[in-house]
Amino acid sequence: MNDVRRRTVLAAAGGTAVAGKAATARAQSPAASDAARRAGTEPGPHEAEVRALLGRMTIDEKLGQLQQLAWTGATGPGGGQTAAAEKAARRGRLGSVLNVYGARTTNALQRMAVRESRLGIPLIFGLDVIHGMWTTFPIPLGQAAAFDPAVAERDAEVSAREARSNGVHWAFSPMMDVTHEPRWGRIAEGGGEDPYLTAALAAAKTRGYQGEDLRSRDRLAACAKHLVAYGGVEGGRDYNTVDVSEARLRNLYLPPFRAALDAGVATVMASFNTVSGVPAHGYRHALTEILKEEWAFGGFVVSDYNGVQEMTVHGYAADRSDAARLAFDAGIDMEMASTTLNEYGKRLLRSGRITTDRLDDAVARILRLKFRLGLFDHPYADEDTVIAGPTKASRAAAREAAGRTMVLLKNEKSTLPLGRSGSIAVVGPFADSTDLRGSWAGTWADAFRPVTVLEAVKDAAPKARISHVRGVDASGRNTRGIARAASAARATDVTVVVAGEAATLSGEASVRGDITLPGEQERLITAIADTGAPFVVVLLSGRPLTMEGWLDRTPAVLQAWHPGLEGGNAIADVLFGAVNPGGKLPVTFPRAVGQIPVYYNHENTGRPYDPHNHYTSGYLDLADGPQFPFGHGLSYTTFDIGEPRLGVSRVRAEALCKGDTVEVAVPVRNTGRRKGDEVVQLYIRDPVASIVQPVRRLSGFRRVTLRAGEATTVRFRLGAEELGFWTQDRQGRFLLEKGEIQVFAGNSSLAKRERVLTIT
Ligand code: BGC
Repeated sequence: MNDVRRRTVLAAAGGTAVAGKAATARAQSPAASDAARRAGTEPGPHEAEVRALLGRMTIDEKLGQLQQLAWTGATGPGGGQTAAAEKAARRGRLGSVLNVYGARTTNALQRMAVRESRLGIPLIFGLDVIHGMWTTFPIPLGQAAAFDPAVAERDAEVSAREARSNGVHWAFSPMMDVTHEPRWGRIAEGGGEDPYLTAALAAAKTRGYQGEDLRSRDRLAACAKHLVAYGGVEGGRDYNTVDVSEARLRNLYLPPFRAALDAGVATVMASFNTVSGVPAHGYRHALTEILKEEWAFGGFVVSDYNGVQEMTVHGYAADRSDAARLAFDAGIDMEMASTTLNEYGKRLLRSGRITTDRLDDAVARILRLKFRLGLFDHPYADEDTVIAGPTKASRAAAREAAGRTMVLLKNEKSTLPLGRSGSIAVVGPFADSTDLRGSWAGTWADAFRPVTVLEAVKDAAPKARISHVRGVDASGRNTRGIARAASAARATDVTVVVAGEAATLSGEASVRGDITLPGEQERLITAIADTGAPFVVVLLSGRPLTMEGWLDRTPAVLQAWHPGLEGGNAIADVLFGAVNPGGKLPVTFPRAVGQIPVYYNHENTGRPYDPHNHYTSGYLDLADGPQFPFGHGLSYTTFDIGEPRLGVSRVRAEALCKGDTVEVAVPVRNTGRRKGDEVVQLYIRDPVASIVQPVRRLSGFRRVTLRAGEATTVRFRLGAEELGFWTQDRQGRFLLEKGEIQVFAGNSSLAKRERVLTIT
């Protein structure tokens, strides 16, 4: 089909009709309209109280609500604001404090605001509870690999219970920055490269933190971050430039934010990068035009740490006063750490460069959340019911979650699972390491020591003879232990090499130019391979690693991410088959850094790679395609996924616009000998469109558990949202075009089973 299609314009320019499209979906979904109410996008029950309070506040008190200061005894970048926070709280010149927790500490601070300030407006306490408070869950990228939003939701529920009981009201999570950049350390914090998967996780995590009622003593306000396109930082270098088209903004980066909003997310955080020449903190198009106007977001936007003031360093704001004005106009409601709005707000108001209406709008947004959290009635944490650490139940949840995140990348000759008898060597820098918790396990959780892989293996196989040699350090050049590790491998039935990256190598500002195994770990693995004895590699990492130097010689590889507090036990569960791995890659694993960006949902070139044609799109010195594709992951059993069956093969565009959907039924059978999990994945391709479309787009996934021989049918629904796309129009135009759509089903982004749906 090469004729240009006739287009059905779902949404006309101007934003209103976009809302029309969204409204079609919303009108039919009571859950979504409940969520909108929860998010404050509809007039809430506290409007009268908010207005009354605003009427009594001075300008200084209003500006004070816009300020968030950091609670830290430490000095350093942005540190040391504790004394200032106490003073501001007493004077009613503070809205929020970050990095504070503990019932007693938060209560003492809260008393200063509630009892000593003129109006007694409570403070809101925020913390980076990203993948656990006391009970560290696997890193978010690992959670994404579970392809099971329930894992993310559970993490958020456990986190919320632990954090709220310790005086925290607000988690700076979920992070939902879609990225194509494995060098970027913050890939660990998000859901990987796919907007559909990341959107599902963003919604699940929001639900898990917030529940039905933010007043509950086991819930937190969530924060969708970072708006916007932070994952696109050039070269993967943190805080760097992003130049992005409107279509990519809306099709790739924004869907998770929209999903979080539909789930009722209370707040949004801006990002550190520039977006097409404008620092995100000054990017009115995203913060106001799209978020607050087009999407009618009623919550508030917090800046990132010093993000407002840093607009002067970007070379966008002339000085700090200018930064305050630009950020406020763009849509920032609360300023984290830097204090420009408080210092210059009055002068800006007097000179008319910011308006009282905008000030009242920002303050009202913040007050609304304080009411929704119930802080005016219950400002204090209950010091008698504090959760002081992980519990048996929270540990069990973390262990189960970690088991679900593991991805079996390779398993030749059924090397895994291991038997529980005989002899096992557990080697490598992370074999007996407690560095399992990942980049955002805060120092607050340091008191809780993870069980190491070695300890867990000993526990799981008490009858086996287990030896341990470290071999090499996690980084560094000392190779003296390699020979001993190889002898241990020679002397045992099987060797488990636990290799990877320290947690400090991923996360904020932890960018790598080389994403191979650090230090001399590759030499350790090849030395074990040289022995000819069977072995497996367990990889701990906050990002995809390249493995060209050792993968071919390694019979089995288990990608375990940074699996959290119970990660050691979860790894042993999978090694011995108590848990059959069912995770899938939420991100493409490149062969080499030179291929980056490499991602499954890329656009076609006019000359897709053809090994027999020199003038096609490829690398002279690299094989085509990634090391492992998005969606890949093996199991100890096997599955057959059948042809997708369409409920109808033709559907009218008008019907889709009105909310109709097409059912796609995909049969799946466990063809092996043990119970296991498969993730049935649905992809679509729109082969001819007025904007070149990705060669594949994930449009549905379901993780199912099947006994040996068992079969089931997984049903998906494709509607306008899945089948259409956003155009380059800055006003927001969503198109559903007539023509053919290829529908693929399978167990990775290479899914082959195909049917064609025709939109008429
Ligand atoms: C990060 C945010 C985080 C904030 C508060 C910033 O450096 O970018 O994601 O929430 O610090 O700790």
